[in-house]
Amino acid sequence: MLERIQETAAFLKQKMHTHPETAIILGTGLGSLVNDITDAYEINYADIPNFPLSTVEGHSGKLIFGKLGGVDIMAMQGRFHFYEGYGMKEVTFPVRVMRELGIKTLFVSNAAGGMNPEFSIGDLMIITDHINFFPEHPLRGKNIPYGPRFPDMGEAYDRELIKKADAIAAEMGIKVQHGVYLGTQGPTFETPAEYKMFHIMGADAVGMSTVPEVIVARHCGIRVFGVSVITDLGLEGQVVEVSHEEVQKAADAAQPKMTAIMRELIARSGE
Ligand code: HPA
Repeated sequence: MLERIQETAAFLKQKMHTHPETAIILGTGLGSLVNDITDAYEINYADIPNFPLSTVEGHSGKLIFGKLGGVDIMAMQGRFHFYEGYGMKEVTFPVRVMRELGIKTLFVSNAAGGMNPEFSIGDLMIITDHINFFPEHPLRGKNIPYGPRFPDMGEAYDRELIKKADAIAAEMGIKVQHGVYLGTQGPTFETPAEYKMFHIMGADAVGMSTVPEVIVARHCGIRVFGVSVITDLGLEGQVVEVSHEEVQKAADAAQPKMTAIMRELIARSGE
């Protein structure tokens, strides 16, 4: 496993002429951030040794290197979900490669269903903590010596970055929520009873990604900042039908707010 990660990193290092310490997983709501990357150069996942191959036809995915707000960055356009059939090692492989490349901070986004009655569709929720509800743990198996066998998860989401993001959102007049994200395997959206259970368990939003990558990033000592776009609501007694199209529509509408905060936060993250 470690050899494969290092082989991939060595391949990328040969192609890279920048040395980013910041990575972004362009999840739902952040796709348009690519338009702000300058001095960009790209490497298709299909050309990277050991990289998982995308299951979505026509969207093989790529790494984009360049500058965002004056900061050298590496962006993943296209992520791997457990529900697509990838194993946890594949879902999180790119994060371990990031560690080998010298990444120190990871920015992630996702779409999520809101269960907190204070939330509305289109809200941004800064992730303050998570609940891992995936059926397989990404660190299961032989410990890769990037971190301890039993890693601490007391501050999975960096408090300093949350504070900075709050300040930026306030300056920009963008309303943000805070909350706990629960990651589950999907691909079904939740039944009303499941939304209720997740809320009782302490989650404010539920989605099908992010938690595996964050766990692996923390194991590697990479600090993390994450935001969910609330694309639908699973409130007790008010659960309405959810579709991928609606999720996409709500995420697209929230995209400008999301990218504005991320762009500025990345620009200031080194300060
Ligand atoms: N549940 C799980 N994943 C999601 C949801 C949801 O309600 N909305 C967007 N992604």
